Amino acid sequence: MNTARFFSQNFWRSGKPAFYLTVLLITMLFFPCQQTARAYTIVCPKADKPLLLQARKNNISLVLKVIDKNELSELRIERLTRQGEKELIIDVLESQKLNKTWYVHYTLPLKKGTNRFRIFPDERELKIRYKPVRTIMNMDFEIPAAYLFHRKEVIPAQCSSCHSKKLPKDANLDVKQLEKSSDYSPACFSCHRQLISQPQWRHGPSANVHCLNCHQQKKGKTRISILTGRVDDVCFECHVNKRKFKESAHVHGPVGTGDCTVCHDPHGDKYEFQLWADGHSALCIGCHADKKDTLRQRVGFYSHGIIEGGGCIACHDPHSSPNRFQLYKPINALCTSCHTSLQGVTVGHPVGNHPLSGKTDPRRKGRELSCTSCHNPHGSRFRYLLIGDLLGGHVCSKCHH
Ligand code: HEC
Ligand code: HEC
Ligand code: HEC
Ligand code: HEC
Ligand code: HEC
Ligand code: HEC
Ligand code: HEC
Ligand code: HEC
Ligand code: HEC
Ligand code: HEC
Repeated sequence: MNTARFFSQNFWRSGKPAFYLTVLLITMLFFPCQQTARAYTIVCPKADKPLLLQARKNNISLVLKVIDKNELSELRIERLTRQGEKELIIDVLESQKLNKTWYVHYTLPLKKGTNRFRIFPDERELKIRYKPVRTIMNMDFEIPAAYLFHRKEVIPAQCSSCHSKKLPKDANLDVKQLEKSSDYSPACFSCHRQLISQPQWRHGPSANVHCLNCHQQKKGKTRISILTGRVDDVCFECHVNKRKFKESAHVHGPVGTGDCTVCHDPHGDKYEFQLWADGHSALCIGCHADKKDTLRQRVGFYSHGIIEGGGCIACHDPHSSPNRFQLYKPINALCTSCHTSLQGVTVGHPVGNHPLSGKTDPRRKGRELSCTSCHNPHGSRFRYLLIGDLLGGHVCSKCHH
């Protein structure tokens, strides 16, 4: 058969194409084309295009499916530098076999911004943009690149054959006890154990694998969500008496908006009360960066002696209080609770009959005279934490012309 004949009308009408096609298909079935077949399939994350991970934790799970055992040894994943050079090799975390198929698990460490990984043998590149967030509650997951594992199905069938109802053997948990609650959710644990096994300070319901206390897999919902749009509603379900946080006259910003989890990880975290930083000061400075400089005495700066040890929460309630700035007590009462020599004093400091309260503060509109009229409670460039230099009368002249 020559080429001309092949393309002739006759040939197409003869029924032969169907025959040749069948032969070709059968041949392909027995000798799969080595060039195009992948040695592996990426089952998670589904990544046809670069994806955006908005998360608190700086890693992502990668699961590859491998059918040919020989390919298993050739698998390798490298994280690349911005310039595309090899930076590090990612170790296999778990390699499990099911029905002649291997599921190879990795945890890819991420840095803020774009991360590039190269998967061998075929040098496929995986691009993941990572945006660290304090909370995922306010994230916009509708933007197309945004990655949500539980977007379509809660737990894909491919995974659920292994990640089912059983707790891993080395979980060291009292299953009999935990099972008594209908919120017991071992399946979640088998994929998310890092969430609760890593942190030093664990939150009761998470440590007990009662994930469904707070997460639900409601019908019609496309992903695992918390019970309502607001986090604090979930928290108050159990911490009933903490509802009072919101009833105080002065509520701290994030508490007012119901975002308990910007400070407390609901699963557990490095610091007491499941905080992501030490709750005395580091946590506060994380958001109130302008106060960072007040933490330590140094040349040319007087820090308030109490800050380094007692921290911000020596004076401020992290949640709320009846007093402005969430102070435990009204300003003068607060200061004199430590500086007891001035307790109950309304006149007589710093000079003569100088008033300490009950007069309007000429320097600050709408405020009453108080200790902070002359002292900065956090620290100052001037001695005695004053608002100006005492030498030369700079303090006094702020109010007295
Ligand atoms: C062949 C069985 C099997 C299949 C299929 C499987 N896994 Fe796993 N996976 C395991 C085993 C075993 C572990 C280790 C469990 C442990 O240590 O708690 C694990 C651990 C994990 C972990 C936790 C890793 C860590 O940080 O400790 C994640 C996440 C995970 N799998 C995701 C998936 C996803 C997603 C799928 C589906 C695409 C999947 N797995 C399919 C067996 C499997
Ligand atoms: C088969 C493994 C697997 C199981 C089982 C599983 N998850 Fe996940 N989950 C993942 C992976 C993978 C991610 C994406 C983040 C990552 O790569 O670590 C994720 C992400 C999440 C997120 C972040 C939002 C999202 O959809 O990406 C939440 C919330 C979540 N899981 C809750 C749960 C809860 C609650 C359960 C139990 C009902 C559960 N997961 C069971 C694998 C699993
Ligand atoms: C006390 C309530 C509560 C319990 C119990 C709980 N979660 Fe969560 N979980 C939340 C809230 C609230 C968020 C959203 C946090 C945020 O980003 O502000 C969340 C987020 C997550 C995420 C997203 C990753 C992250 O850290 O942002 C995963 C995964 C997750 N939960 C899995 C689990 C698993 C698995 C369990 C059980 C072992 C569990 N959760 C138990 C309340 C809870
Ligand atoms: C299902 C019930 C439940 C829910 C929902 C819940 N908690 Fe808890 N929480 C507990 C239990 C139980 C403890 C342990 C109590 C103890 O031992 O003092 C605890 C302890 C805590 C502690 C430490 C308290 C201490 O004195 O050591 C903090 C902080 C906390 N929870 C914050 C939260 C936040 C924030 C939320 C909402 C995201 C939340 N909890 C939701 C049950 C719950
Ligand atoms: C700005 C950060 C921040 C936010 C937001 C926040 N907390 Fe706290 N929370 C803290 C700090 C810091 C402590 C530790 C206080 C201490 O050491 O005395 C704490 C302690 C706690 C405790 C244990 C001590 C106690 O007072 O019983 C509970 C329970 C708690 N928080 C619940 C909540 C709940 C519920 C919300 C949301 C309504 C919330 N927190 C929001 C920072 C925060
Ligand atoms: C997650 C970010 C965040 C953290 C952490 C945080 N704050 Fe705040 N804070 C805010 C926001 C938002 C406001 C309200 C906006 C504003 O007035 O600046 C606020 C307001 C305040 C105010 C009142 C400011 C004013 O002018 O009325 C004080 C005082 C305060 N925070 C102290 C603290 C202390 C103390 C801590 C540590 C226990 C802390 N904050 C931790 C976000 C945070
Ligand atoms: C000795 C008590 C004390 C300590 C410790 C303290 N504060 Fe204050 N803070 C005050 C007082 C009093 C005010 C009100 C000042 C005024 O009257 O204007 C205040 C005001 C604030 C304000 C609102 C006004 C402003 O200056 O921005 C913020 C925010 C704040 N503090 C954050 C912090 C942080 C963060 C820390 C820890 C680094 C901290 N405070 C430590 C007593 C304290
Ligand atoms: C929780 C206790 C505590 C509270 C509340 C407190 N202080 Fe202090 N203050 C201290 C400590 C501790 C020192 C360092 C003592 C020292 O160096 O002799 C200090 C030092 C000072 C100094 C410097 C003293 C010196 O001799 O240099 C001044 C001024 C001062 N505080 C004013 C205030 C004012 C104003 C307030 C209220 C906004 C206040 N303090 C609230 C504990 C406190
Ligand atoms: C009108 C301005 C002014 C007011 C208001 C004021 N102070 Fe002072 N304070 C000063 C000056 C000026 C000094 C410098 C040393 C001196 O002259 O005693 C001083 C010094 C101090 C000192 C360090 C010296 C000592 O006596 O131990 C402390 C502590 C102090 N004040 C606490 C307070 C407290 C607490 C309040 C509120 C009850 C307060 N001050 C209100 C101006 C003021
Ligand atoms: C924050 C503003 C402020 C600063 C700073 C201040 N004062 Fe005053 N001073 C007042 C107010 C307000 C009054 C009361 C005026 C009235 O009664 O109307 C007052 C009253 C006085 C009086 C009269 C009190 C009496 O005996 O009746 C004297 C004297 C005085 N101040 C001296 C000083 C000296 C000295 C300094 C510096 C160390 C100083 N003041 C710093 C606000 C201030």
